[in-house]
Amino acid sequence: MPRPLLSDGVVHLEPPTEADVDDITRACQDPAIARWVPIPQPYGPAEARAFLENVVVPGWESGRELTWAVRDGARALLGMVGLHRIEQGTAEIGYWLAPWGRGRGVMTRAAALVVDHALDPAGLDLVRVSWRAMVGNWPSRRVAWRVGFRVEGTIRAELAHRDGARRDAWVGTICRGDPRGPNEPWPGTPADGDVPADAGAHVERAAP
Ligand SMILES: CC(C)(COP(=O)(O)OP(=O)(O)OC[C@H]1O[C@@H](n2cnc3c(N)ncnc32)[C@H](O)[C@@H]1OP(=O)(O)O)[C@@H](O)C(=O)NCCC(=O)NCCS
Repeated sequence: MPRPLLSDGVVHLEPPTEADVDDITRACQDPAIARWVPIPQPYGPAEARAFLENVVVPGWESGRELTWAVRDGARALLGMVGLHRIEQGTAEIGYWLAPWGRGRGVMTRAAALVVDHALDPAGLDLVRVSWRAMVGNWPSRRVAWRVGFRVEGTIRAELAHRDGARRDAWVGTICRGDPRGPNEPWPGTPADGDVPADAGAHVERAAP
């Protein structure tokens, strides 16, 4: 599968490599990533290497899961963005930024590049990209809203977390031909303290 480098002149996307292990490991110490993404805990260099070997490399080889490192102009690692579950004209986007990459619109740019590539007939030529996030993940929703995803609802017990619990998820989509950018007024976010730590937790647990 070709490995396109995507760039808007500010952020640069390319497949992560072994040289990124230390930065991936450092980023994945962040509690926000651990809270919203089911990465292994604890997370060390072995976990970063396993991610490269078991997810990134075979994903690019098969074309079923494409992962890009998000880099700044100096090519420093800021985060990761990927397309998962690529099948029958659809895929799902996923992303995280290291704490040092946040707060300046980097992921909005990176996700927009990936969506453009996914839906472009000269790119992956997909019909739809979906986004799912655990209920309460307002920063993720804000990125999706800025890119142009339409949030279509909440699905109960949709996402599995590492604690074995299923979490309710917001789900949104963007389809080929949809306008980019926000498609509705921002729905309004509660203040930090109003988002309970277990927002979206579903009571049933998966069988051990
Ligand atoms: C999602 C993520 C990539 C967004 O990064 P970012 O675009 O740089 O944005 P920030 O994290 O700085 O915050 C995004 C927005 O949410 C807002 N926000 C943050 N916490 C919030 C909260 N608890 N309630 C409401 N809004 C909140 C911020 O004010 C910011 O708004 P602004 O862009 O208008 O200033 C990043 O927060 C991240 O990596 N989170 C952990 C991993 C994760 O959740 N990945 C997505 C899984 S679906």
